[in-house]
Amino acid sequence: MLKAEFPRNCWYVAAWSHELDEGPLGRTILGEPLVLWCDGQGHPVALADRCCHRGAPLSMGRCVDGRLQCMYHGLKFDQSGHCIEMPGQDQVPRKARVRAYPLVQRGQWLWVWMGEPERAREADIPHTPWLDAERWPYRPGYYHYQAPAELINDNLLDFSHLSYVHEGTLGGSEAIAGTRPQVTPLPHGLRIERRVEGVPPAPNITRFTSVRGTVNRWFSYDFLLPGVLLMEFCTEPTDGGEPLMQYTCQAVTPETPHTAHYFFMGTRDFALADPAVTEAIYEGLVTAFEEDRLIIEAQYRALREQGDFAPVATVADQALIQFRRLVEQRVAEDSAKS
Ligand code: FES
Ligand SMILES: [Fe+2]
Repeated sequence: MLKAEFPRNCWYVAAWSHELDEGPLGRTILGEPLVLWCDGQGHPVALADRCCHRGAPLSMGRCVDGRLQCMYHGLKFDQSGHCIEMPGQDQVPRKARVRAYPLVQRGQWLWVWMGEPERAREADIPHTPWLDAERWPYRPGYYHYQAPAELINDNLLDFSHLSYVHEGTLGGSEAIAGTRPQVTPLPHGLRIERRVEGVPPAPNITRFTSVRGTVNRWFSYDFLLPGVLLMEFCTEPTDGGEPLMQYTCQAVTPETPHTAHYFFMGTRDFALADPAVTEAIYEGLVTAFEEDRLIIEAQYRALREQGDFAPVATVADQALIQFRRLVEQRVAEDSAKS
């Protein structure tokens, strides 16, 4: 039931920009080890994480004068992956190079293109306004998953799990699972909208606001290929209090067929100057997404250990079935073009 094929001609979130502050970062994406590093101008670069000399990981190297130096025998590479210096040797052979991947920074996300470089178009990178940290305060979040990206995408495409997995954090009411979302196709994904009325607020929001009693809640998000969630959601007190708008960007990037990277952040349009609220939102997401991680990793262990499995679909699976189809189409298009 799980497919190990990934769309390649897509932009994937590879890292938070701050992850490169300490030097070169090794990160495997779609099974390919990459090294991410910053050149002398502060531009992020992605190269294959294997030195063309003897194969040592370049992520164990260091940046010297805007070049990446392999710390085995000292070869230096430029931003395009060409070796430009070999200790003790005047001539550098032209074939001394490693693959370079298109990499673009938007807000604090670094997007990498894993497909054919000539097909990479920056205009195809999803618009993520809430990642502008100057305007929207947030703390960056990351989890590593011992489960395939596909299962995390499934989770994000079906919020009925909020009522159960996140009973004490993001949920707080079985009415969420009891309400059918509206699912609308988009050119590169799906829009999912859900409204629940006259319910208690999410337990998380009571931790940093004075909202109590009953509220109406709505969620509206785009879930885009290859696995990017962009959502706004609102808590409207039924006593006429101010509605509270919140926003989140999340991205699921396959590491291998069995593991994944999960990047997330949350922000809001109230109490923007209050760092305690920024912290509370971050802590709330970390706690809630740990709840997801526990059940998804356990689900994956169960699926692997017990072999053949024919899932029984429910109405709540509508979006994830449609999204899996989009992924399959994109994989088929990739192989047709290559
Ligand atoms: S393996 Fe990189 S310089 Fe030798
Ligand atoms: Fe969840």
